[in-house]
Amino acid sequence: MSPAVAVGRVLTRSLGGTWALAPNRVHFVPPVTIFYSATMFTVETPRGNKSEQYQHLLAQARALMQGERDRIANAANLSALLFHALADLNWVGFYFFDGSELVVGPFQGLPACVRIPLGKGVCGTAAATATSQRIDDVDAFPGHIACDSASRSELVVPLFLAGRLLGVLDIDSPQPARFDADDQAGIEAIANAYLDAIA
Ligand code: SME
Repeated sequence: MSPAVAVGRVLTRSLGGTWALAPNRVHFVPPVTIFYSATMFTVETPRGNKSEQYQHLLAQARALMQGERDRIANAANLSALLFHALADLNWVGFYFFDGSELVVGPFQGLPACVRIPLGKGVCGTAAATATSQRIDDVDAFPGHIACDSASRSELVVPLFLAGRLLGVLDIDSPQPARFDADDQAGIEAIANAYLDAIA
């Protein structure tokens, strides 16, 4: 893996590893250094078992959001990080609650449905029940809202700040049953890091 080269003003955060972007994958090599500037962000090879990879991803997510409370900026960067770091995804993004329904926020993937009523679809169900929804087969989920016909499985984590609904983090995959309990735990931890950052 060639060393990360950043253009412009470079900020470096040492976390005990290095990340670099390769085609379709984010690679992680400990010890991690995250390089990013106004024009470039690089990450490197995730290693270890799934739990260790999620620990590294959580560390990078925290570093990305460190010192930043803006919910849109952090949602945008977190969407990009997850989209590039995790294999077999076609959509990663946020829906925010506007006091009435869910409205699409920062995301990676194809253009998506803009508004989702509470209780509707996988996202609205996660928000209304305050429970993560891990769906192996979206076609078998009553009321699933198909924004991207490629989606086959989905993981939605509800976001609550100080007991109030903020929105949801939604991740879609073209692969059936893409997400297992380890994925759910890893993404929930990253969602909590997002909530901590913007609190
Ligand atoms: N499938 C979601 C809608 C959002 S998209 O997947 C981006 C749902 O059923 O709520």
